[in-house]
Amino acid sequence: MPRSAPTCHLLTIDQKDNLPEKHDGVVRLLHFSDIHIGLHPSLRDLLFTKRILGYLNHLLRRRHRIHAEFLQELAMRLPQLQPDAVLCTGDLSSIGLATEFQAAEKLLEPFLPYNLIYVPGNHDRYVSDGFALDTLRQTFRHCNHGCNDDGSSSGHGLELDTLPAIVTIKGLALILLNPARPVAYHLSCGVLDPAMQARLDALLATIPPETPRAIACHFPPLMPDGSLAGWRHGLRGASFLAEKLTSGEVDAILSGHEHRPFQLELPGGHLQVCAGSLTLAGSYAVCDFPRR
Ligand SMILES: [Fe+2]
Ligand SMILES: [Fe+2]
Repeated sequence: MPRSAPTCHLLTIDQKDNLPEKHDGVVRLLHFSDIHIGLHPSLRDLLFTKRILGYLNHLLRRRHRIHAEFLQELAMRLPQLQPDAVLCTGDLSSIGLATEFQAAEKLLEPFLPYNLIYVPGNHDRYVSDGFALDTLRQTFRHCNHGCNDDGSSSGHGLELDTLPAIVTIKGLALILLNPARPVAYHLSCGVLDPAMQARLDALLATIPPETPRAIACHFPPLMPDGSLAGWRHGLRGASFLAEKLTSGEVDAILSGHEHRPFQLELPGGHLQVCAGSLTLAGSYAVCDFPRR
């Protein structure tokens, strides 16, 4: 018997009424992305790194438009929305500073008791120094400490270096991907390399056919018009990932990166969902997966 298609509601933070009611028999994910906490870096942080470009971009385009308070507003809706897990698909920071990650962790605290799951975005892996990577590993561990890659509900949390991995949420298999890596100054893409593709295939092969399944990946492989994400700002290996959706191997791909939200429904009801930026666009998504 084929799996039933998921349903996704794209919402904005100013919609306070008529929130989607949760029905019996669904696994619900509350999904947001791209909070882009941006703090003033020290001069030492900026010298000789890509961060100087990111910081200038932040000053020019984002600084006065980031609404960190939207996180608190969304957290207040948790009892009403009743998610089985909360998914954040990356770009916690603007230029990958330790201070930005610390500020983001604090803002994410109210979501921790609701099974927070986080996958990194390109801004979280902005530069290639080891200190920045260790900081990201710590934040990843902190955010995902309630999740396990074997589907159990307690014990050790996920580690960044073990991705891709499957988290099981009340019967929903959610595969976490991390194609974010430091790239050249003029790029903001992710890279789904052959090793990660092979690992993804191996993980998918372990999921029983009747089990609902989704992929969490910062970079959407498909754009709102159905075209593949580009090489400069999108995802290297987008066609491989998009195929997982068009073939029906997964029911949904949940992403961020694009700051305007969108939802693309493919034949068979398979969904590419981009939650947009919670703090810049005020957008988030509520996704319901029918349980077997
Ligand atoms: Fe972003
Ligand atoms: Fe991004």
